[in-house]
Formats: sequence, C-alpha cells, structure tokens
Amino acid sequence: MGGKVRIGVIGAGIGSAHSKALKQVKDAELSAICDIDEARAKVAATNWQIPKVYKDYKEMIKKEKLDAVTVALPNHLHKEVTIKAFEMGCHVFCEKPMAMNAGEAEEMIAAGKKAKKILAIGFVQRFRSESLLLKKLITGGDMGNVYHSMVFALRRRGVPGWGTWFTTKSKSGGGGLIDIGVHIIDLTMWEMGFPKPVSVTGSEYMMFGHKKDYNYISMWGSKNEKGIYDVDDYATAFVRFENGATMTLEVSWAANVEKDCFYSVILGDKGGARLDIDEPLKIYTEHYGKIADIVPKYIKEDNWFNQFSNFIDSVKNNKTPVTPGEHGLQVQKVIDAIYLSSKTKKEVKIT
Ligand SMILES: NC(=O)c1ccc[n+]([C@@H]2O[C@H](COP(=O)([O-])OP(=O)(O)OC[C@H]3O[C@@H](n4cnc5c(N)ncnc54)[C@H](O)[C@@H]3O)[C@@H](O)[C@H]2O)c1
Repeated sequence: MGGKVRIGVIGAGIGSAHSKALKQVKDAELSAICDIDEARAKVAATNWQIPKVYKDYKEMIKKEKLDAVTVALPNHLHKEVTIKAFEMGCHVFCEKPMAMNAGEAEEMIAAGKKAKKILAIGFVQRFRSESLLLKKLITGGDMGNVYHSMVFALRRRGVPGWGTWFTTKSKSGGGGLIDIGVHIIDLTMWEMGFPKPVSVTGSEYMMFGHKKDYNYISMWGSKNEKGIYDVDDYATAFVRFENGATMTLEVSWAANVEKDCFYSVILGDKGGARLDIDEPLKIYTEHYGKIADIVPKYIKEDNWFNQFSNFIDSVKNNKTPVTPGEHGLQVQKVIDAIYLSSKTKKEVKIT
C-alpha cells in the first residue's frame, strides 16, 4: 500500500506504550486511541499527541478510516475485537497472550485469512538486541545442534492487578503462565527455530497469591480487594518438540525465591547461550581449542520501536510479520497443554 498506515490503538493501558512507539515509526500515522475509560485514553492522547479519542473502537475504525489497529485489551476481548477489526477491513496487531486458548487463536487466524489481512502478536521480547543477535547466531550455525532449553520467568511477589481481570480465570485464561510465561516460551521457541511442540507434562499451583494477606513489593496496575483470584501463581513443565529437542520451564508471579528473573538457557552442541532480560547476552563455547565465554557488545535497540516497525512494514509491503498468529497459536497450545496436564496429572499430546 502507498502512503502512511493509518492506525488506531484500542486500550490505553499498555496501549500507551504502543502509542509511544508508533509515533516514532516513519510509515505509521497514529490517528486515534480508544478506551471505554475515556479519561485514560485522553491521558495517552495528550502524552503522545494523538489527534482523536474514542470510547467505541468500531466508531473509531469507521470514522478514522483506519488501515490497522492494535488490540491492547484484557485477554478475554482479544478474539472478539480482532475478528471484528478484520471484518471492518483492518490489519491487526494483538497483544500477548494471543487469546484465552488455542481454539480462540485458530478462529482469529481463520478470520485474518478470510479478510486477507495481517495478524501480528505482541511478542516484544523477540525484538530486543540480545534476542535478535542470538537468533542470528543460532540461524548461522554458531551454536550447532540446539537440543534443549531451560526457561525461567519468576517473580518473588509480582502478581499484577490483584483482583482485576488479570487474576480472574474467565477473563485472563490463567495466571503467571499465560501472562509472563507466554513471553519466555515464545522467545525461546523462536530462538530454537520454532520446532513443533508434540507433548507436555506440567503442573500449576495456586499456593499463596490468592490469600487475602498476600504481601507484595510491586504490582502492575492496582489491587481490587473484593476481586477474584483463581489462577496459577506457579507453573512448571517439560515440553518435547517434533525435532527431538526439549524445554523445561519454571514460571511464577509469586514465589519464595531470592529475586525476580526472566531468562532462558539454550543448549547447542557447539555453544550454549544465556538470554537474560537484565543482562547482556552470554555465549558459552570453544574457541581455537580453548573453552570460551563470549559477551558481545552492542548498542541496545528499543524493542517496542522494533516491534511496531516490523508490523507497519508487514502491512505496507504485505509481508509476514516476525510474530505471526500461527506462532501465537503454537505457544497457546503449549500453555493449554500445561493446564490440561496439571488437571489430568498425565502427559498431554499436542496435534
Ligand atoms: N507485551 C507486554 O509486555 C505487555 C505488558 C502489559 C500488558 N500486556 C497485555 O496487554 C493487554 C492489556 O493489558 P493492560 O496491562 O494494558 O491492561 P489494563 O487493564 O491496564 O488496560 C486495559 C484497558 O482496556 C480498556 N478496555 C476494556 N474493554 C474495552 C473495550 N471494549 N473497548 C475499549 N477499551 C476497553 C480498559 O478500560 C483498560 O483501560 C493484555 O492482554 C496483557 O497481557 C502486554
């Protein structure tokens, strides 16, 4: 398509970060933002110089003649709003997790195909400098045969929005696993070449995040003392992939651990890597007959800018985005299987 991509943001929570990034993307024209909480949308509009504010996203799409939207809404609204936006002629960037479950994700992909529009998922961790570099190293063969990964996304006391949609299973689809686990599972599967998951054994726990006297040090959003908490605060799993590779996983919103961490260790027969959100990328390998640690130096890029640059480029040039809906679906299948395996206490096959 010629000209700038006219885009609107739906939801002014993390949608504010979408707006900030989109303002910097040359081929994007951020036309409007929408939230049922108009005051919240107005704050974002003022902060990021967005010309129009709406309360109804359908009205926004129609009146602003949008080419694309970003969906930054509670998880239970991702499917409905994405499909409606496709039907109204928009390309869609949808936040993670893609949906409440794999069935919903499949419906979203089918709707995008029917409308011949692009669907990208908000796996923003892929766009960090460290992630992009490791992807190049693995693709280039520097790590050899990648056969296993260990992934960790642990918070000591970091339940978001206690008592809001975040902790209500019917609105979120789950707890820490679907909220932060989704990022580290996706990132690591992508680094590993996105092998097809075939089976999962897992367990989820609700140990203390739900207790009324839950003590914490940080919280994304605010607490609703009267709200529901019926989701996991810990999950662990073992995943097998079709190519023989495996992954172990530890994810928590709240666990009695020393400190928060978010990283994966990826093992190949030529080299291993530690990809950590708080530290530089580290490669463990051999060099001219010596065991060597490599810590590359680089200028850190803005992953949010990179993410939306890729989405806008995909829309403008009709290219598959780095984070297509099909990847969101595979990640969702792993998450669904962990919850099911926990319930049945059996290994779950993924088709
Ligand atoms: N990529 C990331 O790192 C990241 C970070 C935070 C959140 N997220 C994801 O983004 C999504 C939103 O999370 P959040 O933290 O912004 O939640 P939030 O609850 O803070 O914000 C959601 C906003 O949506 C608005 N809203 C609800 N229904 C609406 C409707 N029908 N039309 C318009 N607006 C509506 C609410 O008023 C609210 O302001 C979730 O899926 C979450 O998992 C991703």
